Amino acid sequence: VKDLRSFLRALEQVEPIVDVTRAVSYDRELPAVVKLLESKGNPVVYFDHVAESDMPVICGVHGTRERIALALGSPLDRALDDYVDRVTRGVAPVVTSSAPVKDVIRTGDQVDIGQLPIPIHADKDGGRFLTAAVGVALDHANGNVNTGIYRMMVLDRNHLTVGTGGHLRDIIEEAHAAGREMELVIAVGHHPAFQVSSQAKVPRTQDSLEVAGALLGEPLAIASAETVDVPVPAAAEIVLEGRFVPGRTEPDGPFGESPRYYESGYGYVLEVTAVTHRSDAVFMDINNVHQEHRCLSTFPAREGQLLAALRAVYPHTRAVLMPLSTAAMHAYISIDPTRDGEARQVLLVALGSNPRLKHAVVVDTDVDITDHEHVLWALTTRFQGDRDLIVVPNVSGTSMDPSSYTLDDRFAVGELRTQVGFDATKPVSLPFRERADIVGSPYDAIDLEEYVVSDDEPAAAPWRAGGHVGAPA
Ligand SMILES: Cc1cc2nc3c(=O)[nH]c(=O)nc-3n(C[C@H](O)[C@H](O)[C@H](O)COP(=O)(O)O)c2cc1C
Repeated sequence: VKDLRSFLRALEQVEPIVDVTRAVSYDRELPAVVKLLESKGNPVVYFDHVAESDMPVICGVHGTRERIALALGSPLDRALDDYVDRVTRGVAPVVTSSAPVKDVIRTGDQVDIGQLPIPIHADKDGGRFLTAAVGVALDHANGNVNTGIYRMMVLDRNHLTVGTGGHLRDIIEEAHAAGREMELVIAVGHHPAFQVSSQAKVPRTQDSLEVAGALLGEPLAIASAETVDVPVPAAAEIVLEGRFVPGRTEPDGPFGESPRYYESGYGYVLEVTAVTHRSDAVFMDINNVHQEHRCLSTFPAREGQLLAALRAVYPHTRAVLMPLSTAAMHAYISIDPTRDGEARQVLLVALGSNPRLKHAVVVDTDVDITDHEHVLWALTTRFQGDRDLIVVPNVSGTSMDPSSYTLDDRFAVGELRTQVGFDATKPVSLPFRERADIVGSPYDAIDLEEYVVSDDEPAAAPWRAGGHVGAPA
């Protein structure tokens, strides 16, 4: 069965995990270490000893595209295409009676979520936030299971806020309006393909646990919960079960969000009715202002959503990429245009297909969109601001963009944005200056190993001791 541990074993075959064995506090110290390591290779970090808790913590599991591709079992350059294909094919979960996450079961008065090593991350975060916790809910409208990661702030030993703006918000509102109880299972620490599946931009008519099976490459093992009627991912490290308190919400910020700005909002209050975990459980954390947050929500889910939307109209769309620093608000699109103006249509589809997207740059397929320098080169040499720019003001978007506005500018931050499309492709029907490059003969035949000498056999060059010797006579 695939779980967090099986992934970490596989990961250690390809990259080291950084171990921290000294005691660290979950109150900003642990996230500070993760932040300092971000610029030093952005590794997975294992904290063996958290001062305030018995549980160790793992951070950074979804911190790079390479790690997510490994989790999906795809080579990095195929991972997005594979994802777009796999996400549409459901693999049904299997019920198991062997659930490691049930090693320890605490219900009723024994529940104390404060004992978990839930960190305070950014300087001004308003509390301890669960950030890598996948909420699992039953969608009463269709009987499907819906999953997603939501920021969850600890209120007291058995209450937390669930800050959902997605499908779960609608599901909760609909259930409570119909006088139904709304329950939630929260899974902390599973195989990263499970966390990735929770990010899939699929409609409510698609069962999220089937998406999980498709991405794991095996059916997700599920078990019954102790106190609610929602399936439990059996191979998780930790599970919380609970019931939303009808009509009760609480402020849940400030919270450092994925675009690296604080946001304050509200969350639905969940009463936690059970905590179960493995006997040697590892708590999973995502540093909310770290690249890991942006990476997991962007790749492959949001990029895949854009690629699929574009291919539905332009099947020859080669690839898309959202630079991680932009929190999925900015995209590069690679196409092979067949006629003039097609790139602009691609831009219109891209901007229209995705409420979060703010800027899209479309380039020809000779531009490597995984390299910002190449995209900038195309923008500089194939784009003119007065003819190749599409500007669409007053488009609804996300309050996550702190420069968004309202129609009457009454508030500093609204939910309207100006979408911008950059057509940096060459004309199709007109000649365009040829790109200067070094390709073909004799370059293709050169094997650098036959040319470049190793450091321990340097040439006798004029500036080196002994001077220039030259070729043997
Ligand atoms: C680390 C992390 C934190 C997230 N926090 C939230 C959140 O607080 N609220 C929210 O609505 N979405 C959040 N998301 C995004 C949702 O999990 C994602 O959009 C998911 O697809 C929502 O499920 P849905 O598509 O069924 O609505 C977060 C994603 C990640 C990776």
